[in-house]
Amino acid sequence: MENMWYFEKVDKDFIRETKKIGFVSKILICWLLLFSSAGRAATPSIGTWMNLGVQGYEVWRNPQLYVVGAQPLCTQIPGLSPGQSKLCQLYQDHMGFVGRGARQGIAECQWQFRNRRWNCSTVQDSTVFGPILSIGSREAGFAHAIAAAGVVYAVSRACREGQLSSCGCSRASRPKSLNKEWIWGGCGDNVEYGYKFTQGFVDVRERERNYRRGSAEQGRSLMNLHNNEAGRRATIKKTRVTCKCHGVSGSCSLVTCWQQLSSFREIGDYLKDKYDGGTEVKVNRRGRLQVKNPSYAVPTANELVFIDESPDYCIQNTTIGSQGTVGRPCNRTSDGMDGCSLMCCGRGYNTQKTTVKERCKCKFHWCCHVECKTCIRNVELHTCK
Ligand SMILES: *[C@@H]1O[C@H](CO)[C@@H](O)[C@H](O)[C@H]1NC(C)=O
Ligand SMILES: *[C@@H]1O[C@H](CO)[C@@H](O)[C@H](O)[C@H]1NC(C)=O
Ligand SMILES: *[C@@H]1O[C@H](CO)[C@@H](O)[C@H](O)[C@H]1NC(C)=O
Repeated sequence: MENMWYFEKVDKDFIRETKKIGFVSKILICWLLLFSSAGRAATPSIGTWMNLGVQGYEVWRNPQLYVVGAQPLCTQIPGLSPGQSKLCQLYQDHMGFVGRGARQGIAECQWQFRNRRWNCSTVQDSTVFGPILSIGSREAGFAHAIAAAGVVYAVSRACREGQLSSCGCSRASRPKSLNKEWIWGGCGDNVEYGYKFTQGFVDVRERERNYRRGSAEQGRSLMNLHNNEAGRRATIKKTRVTCKCHGVSGSCSLVTCWQQLSSFREIGDYLKDKYDGGTEVKVNRRGRLQVKNPSYAVPTANELVFIDESPDYCIQNTTIGSQGTVGRPCNRTSDGMDGCSLMCCGRGYNTQKTTVKERCKCKFHWCCHVECKTCIRNVELHTCK
């Protein structure tokens, strides 16, 4: 039977729940900083942890096979910061899900931006998106948020499915608004754990370096932390209470409810709105982010922020990693970002006439087959000059 009844989960409940889980929290991070990476704190790591979603994704199914010499696998994955590589060793069984989450985040980013000048395309190295994301743009903010959202998603589900040794079904307390007759107790997605783990793993790289207060580097780091949090919260915010009827032929004499992740597309749509409403910020001398234009509202933890203007995505520029929009398909009749005038940045477009074969005029014959004709349709494809 279909699941039914959905409630908005209250954020305050959630924050209280996560406080109960203290595991990868400050203590561990302090420990990591003191004993592992303090000496190397000045070396920026090349690449990003999101590389786990692109390369080295399969290895976690059978990590023993990949250990080369005495070097543990976690130190060989390019893109992990020293702290992340330590957490990787401690939570090896989580890493396949971190990779899965990153991969899902990247795929969603590409879907959300498929009709835009910057289309979230990836490159073949551990930076994943190429140098373009070293600019603290609105787009970089979105990429960080959606990747963090993906990891919360994948880890929360993995807990529920019993795939991780350190977590299981959600232990969130019963929502107050839930009908008294209904049972709270199905196995729910453990977003409390997913959130905490992701916070530890994704944010550690921003916390293990010491930046000069008020410097551009510190500003970027604060921006990443803010957007990582917004991404994690997006997954939480979209999580619902879901219930199911039991009983003889749908009599619904018994109702059980649990916490359930939404579809990842819903999270992507939500973050895309946050991208559109993103706030430009700057780092001040006290080492805090502040809104650049004081007449704008201070963003909440759910909003996305950025510190740099977006680069020119119109023309190819290998220095900054912009691919340009030459050759991109566009829509001649659309006024939106996918329309040829915006997509091609005023350079004009080429038109190619082709035909597509389609099944058409289908008839249903009793019983049971469908008969179709093949139609040939002329289409025009437009691509940017
Ligand atoms: C590439 O971008 C950089 C930084 O914005 C700029 O200085 C440079 O002139 C650009 N190069 C080209 C070929 O447009
Ligand atoms: C993004 O655009 C580039 C050209 O700018 C194209 O080569 C690439 O296939 C596109 N990627 C996706 C994921 O749509
Ligand atoms: C092009 O844009 C128009 C207007 O927004 C829309 O109706 C049409 O479906 C689009 N065509 C394609 C192929 O996406």
